[in-house]
Amino acid sequence: MKVLLGVSGGIAAFKAPEIVRSLRRKGHAVRCSMTRSAGAFVTPLTLEVLSQYPVYREEYLQPDNNGDELHISAARWADVFCVAPATCNTLARLALGLADDFLATTALAFTGDLLVAPAMTSEMWEKEAVQAHVTTLLARGVTLIGPVVGPLATGETAMGRMADPDEIVTAIEATAKGGDLEGRTVLITAGPTHEPLDPVRFLSNRSSGKMGFSLAVEAASRGARTLLVSGPVSLPTPRGVERFDVTTAAEMADVVDRLAQEAEVVIMAAAVADFTPRSTSETKLKKGAGPPRMSLVATPDILTRLQEIAPNTLRVGFAAETGNLESEARRKLVDKRAHLIVANDVSRSDIGFGSENNEVTVFRAGKPPLTIPLQAKRLVAARLLDLIRQELDGGEPGMDTAGG
Ligand code: CTP
Repeated sequence: MKVLLGVSGGIAAFKAPEIVRSLRRKGHAVRCSMTRSAGAFVTPLTLEVLSQYPVYREEYLQPDNNGDELHISAARWADVFCVAPATCNTLARLALGLADDFLATTALAFTGDLLVAPAMTSEMWEKEAVQAHVTTLLARGVTLIGPVVGPLATGETAMGRMADPDEIVTAIEATAKGGDLEGRTVLITAGPTHEPLDPVRFLSNRSSGKMGFSLAVEAASRGARTLLVSGPVSLPTPRGVERFDVTTAAEMADVVDRLAQEAEVVIMAAAVADFTPRSTSETKLKKGAGPPRMSLVATPDILTRLQEIAPNTLRVGFAAETGNLESEARRKLVDKRAHLIVANDVSRSDIGFGSENNEVTVFRAGKPPLTIPLQAKRLVAARLLDLIRQELDGGEPGMDTAGG
């Protein structure tokens, strides 16, 4: 495989030589591009010696290159372009499509698989502006490797450390292998539902949709036909994903019932409202009329009904809990006839609704629970899909394995 490694200027750049060495040991051809500031952390000579190829800096033409511009020939040469470390400045430039240096210009000219391994302090990583760029890149099909929780240059242990070189190399190789969910159809729900009280008000919850969308990004990047049923959220549609927007629990139930017939896996990451107003006022409820009397009725439990509607699907539920995580998750595994329940503690401020990160425990019938430790939702999604693929490969996801 031909790998173009883009190195931007952060302290983690000192690990770039290790990535080059490991790729070369595995038989891959490597060329490196460095931003101006990367040179402060690692020398071009180190990367040149290890890759055995001159490092691309800011020269766009070389005498022996037949007049071809180097950012074009580098982009055409590479099968995979991995930016590691990706600083928040470089993430922003990639998301905005700027062409203000060789690395960014080459990324624009490149049409293959782009991977980014961010590295920064946790404050920078969690900044809304940075997350907006990450969301944009993910929606375009860019593969995110890390960051992870670990010791940072500031001395603290927190989210923002670049993924280990080994993990980066594994991700690069996995990209080239193609998707392990090729040929599968995965149906995912995401976000909240809105249950209207009148034309301007509704009952809802705090779900942001990020976990479900991360699962969709990951499933699509692994080659699955990915059907995403989304409640009202403000997230862009991930590349390669078929999106179906709904508003209410009843609408979500209708669309899921229909699409589940085509799916092998249904992942109910949506926070579906359990109750909806018995009736919706056609006109705005006026304050002067006093507190309205509100009568609620239960919504259909979409996951539970799937046992009958799509009995051959592997069914995965989520359980967002504020206490009794294990007993509640186990109850839902049985009551909802699910094969997997993914539980998290939403009372924790670091992984609650809207957070960029998550830590979940997966409950499976007849097997010990499995905890996926605190990390970016996209990485949690990757681990969950690993598990789901194992379940799919491991046998018949019929009713005999559900519950219990
Ligand atoms: N779910 C569903 N249909 C509903 C409500 C929930 O399919 N009407 C799904 C969710 O998408 C999730 C799982 O069921 O995958 C668990 O949702 P949760 O809200 O935690 O469970 P509830 O049944 O509402 O239980 P409780 O209120 O007791 O926590």
